[in-house]
Amino acid sequence: MFSFLSKDQTTGEVAERQLDEANIPAHVAIIMDGNGRWAQQRHLPRIAGHKQGMNTVKTVAKAASHLGVKVLTLYAFSTENWKRPTTEVNYLMKLPVDFFGTFVPDLIKNNIRVKVMGYTEDLPDATQKAVRDAIAATKDCTGMVLNFALNYGGRAEIVTAVQRLAQQVQAGTLDPTVIDEALLSQNLMTGDLGDLQDPDLLIRTSGEERLSNFMLWQVAYSEFVFMAQHWPDFDQTTLEEAIYQYQQRHRRFGGLTMA
Ligand code: FPP
Repeated sequence: MFSFLSKDQTTGEVAERQLDEANIPAHVAIIMDGNGRWAQQRHLPRIAGHKQGMNTVKTVAKAASHLGVKVLTLYAFSTENWKRPTTEVNYLMKLPVDFFGTFVPDLIKNNIRVKVMGYTEDLPDATQKAVRDAIAATKDCTGMVLNFALNYGGRAEIVTAVQRLAQQVQAGTLDPTVIDEALLSQNLMTGDLGDLQDPDLLIRTSGEERLSNFMLWQVAYSEFVFMAQHWPDFDQTTLEEAIYQYQQRHRRFGGLTMA
């Protein structure tokens, strides 16, 4: 057990809370929302919110790793985000270059390994290179996996997995009757995470309560925590608060016994 000071999102009241170190969610996934609103409230351009959001990623990655989280998946760019104005898309594409360009030594120091899931082949060359270099530089890190969803879409991911299995059936190398949930899971972009592929806790910031095409298959039994803070205001305490809420839940996975 260790304590942290939690601030109520509506009343602002501060209370001391206890986190159970033995019940830290192994896989935490976050829909980082509210960068634009954070900037708007400060009369700043939207990209200023994304820049601050990138700094939050650094803080939260280190905090999650120190708390004992094994996989932290962050929704950085969806397959639908291309619909945004070109200047904003270009800025978002540059963020991984800035992020990995400055943060890889810190990631290595914290034993954090970078993974990326998404259709990275459609990203600009410089973004692809930044991602490839970060994955290579951290490949021997054995601690937390920092998994960026970049040009990722949950439905597209399932379609791609189904196509791959269908091709194997067509080639005569796969018997369709052996296709089960485990095999489909293995063929998703989280397949390489083994037992850790499904998030235990899904957090969305900024008060919105929807999935926005994020990890549709993998969140079947995840606990959802929605937080009022905009992503740039998220920090170690907000993460601890979300984990505290997770620890008050009773996971049953469709059964009757309390887990
Ligand atoms: C949603 O806020 C946020 C995004 C679409 C981008 C998220 C990206 C980051 C937080 C930076 C990622 C950093 C790296 C290293 C890749 P929004 O723009 O939809 O906010 P709004 O709903 O208030 O407009």
